[in-house]
Amino acid sequence: MNSSDSAKLFVGISQLVTLAGTEGPRRGSGMSDLSLFQEGAILVDQDRILAAGSFREISALAPARGARKVDLGGRVVLPGFVDSHTHPVFALPRLRDFSLRITGVGYKEIAEKGGGILSTVSTIRETSEPELAEQFQERMNSFLECGTTTLEAKSGYGLDLHSELKILKAIARVASQGPLEVVSTLLGAHAVPVEYRYRRADYIRLVAEEMIPSVVKHGLAEFVDVFCDKGYFTVLESEKILKKALAVRLKVKIHADQLSHSGGAKLAARLKAVSADHLDHVTSKDMAALKKSGTIPVLIPASNFFLGTKYAPARRLISQDLPVALATDFNPGTCPCWNMQMVLSIACTQMKMTVEEAVTATTLNAAYAVGRGDRLGSLVAGKQADFVVMDVEDYREIPYYFGVNHCVMTVKKGQVVYDKLGLASQRS
Ligand code: NIG
Ligand code: FE
Repeated sequence: MNSSDSAKLFVGISQLVTLAGTEGPRRGSGMSDLSLFQEGAILVDQDRILAAGSFREISALAPARGARKVDLGGRVVLPGFVDSHTHPVFALPRLRDFSLRITGVGYKEIAEKGGGILSTVSTIRETSEPELAEQFQERMNSFLECGTTTLEAKSGYGLDLHSELKILKAIARVASQGPLEVVSTLLGAHAVPVEYRYRRADYIRLVAEEMIPSVVKHGLAEFVDVFCDKGYFTVLESEKILKKALAVRLKVKIHADQLSHSGGAKLAARLKAVSADHLDHVTSKDMAALKKSGTIPVLIPASNFFLGTKYAPARRLISQDLPVALATDFNPGTCPCWNMQMVLSIACTQMKMTVEEAVTATTLNAAYAVGRGDRLGSLVAGKQADFVVMDVEDYREIPYYFGVNHCVMTVKKGQVVYDKLGLASQRS
């Protein structure tokens, strides 16, 4: 088969956000360069981008001639969102926690009243793997419809060997069906379960000596994460677990400095973690250490919005030349939001990131936060054809008209996997 038999030419693009340019995560003023084309076009062959740029240039290329044309009707196209931090497998929402929090009850007190992470753990332990997979599948469709094409998914609500593996198997089962690409993370150290309350060291051992080897044996995770924070896991405990992960060639992430200045960011830098996430209480010293280690700071502003807590210092991180990424942190306790467009809005209005910085942080830098920056996150020749069509003429409208879903088409690996308006089946 020659390329034009399977090629598709996407036209009718009012603005094409490519993020073409230098390799590597974008930092500082580099985060503002979207490499934007007015009247763009994308030429796709199977799962790859053959070329992306101005309509005039792309449509004149030889393989464009025989390609099937898809007219997007004057809308904005950008790389698919990479949501690099989520906890998407759980059985029930935590509506009681939500109501309590509104009346002023704090995260710790909610946990003491039987809510919090451990309440999700008790319901998940009673739910079967196929049921969890079915629920996760439905949530995956919601992500896809909002423009997310790659999703990091953590375990962390099982907290025993069987239940953690059950969650990761549910993730693997759904991931194998596609079309969303899923990056699996073991978060055995999300909280100390009740039965280990008085023998923490045994729980750390369980995560390091049993969960991690089992996950490797069954090929169920690419990353290991730890909730390194006050009331959860200390720096020393986190380090034990993460060193074990690194020793068996898993990559590491850390929930760092979310509730307090816990030392998580510094640990992330010391271990050269791929990402340090949350960072609400990060300091200038931590920033310098992260910069040196090449660790990506992943900010989670929709969770601050939902909890009514202090935002991470995005402007300071960017001015320190750190390649900031953004994620939803979708979970039943602190961020029941799967829409990265909402994250864009909150990042712009509350953390004062520019629209351009926020777009870079949800696409290219986010792809680096899951170790896939060489293949995903920008629309350049040779990269995977993962992009989304937004029902707006100007990309700034995406965070401007907030709280709605602008996405009308999602393309994953060159295939149209969501097409609200039937644009791909219209004859041109
Ligand atoms: O990222 N920080 C820890 N974990 C989640 C919260 C999970 C929950 O409350 O269920 C977070 O915010
Ligand atoms: Fe989280």
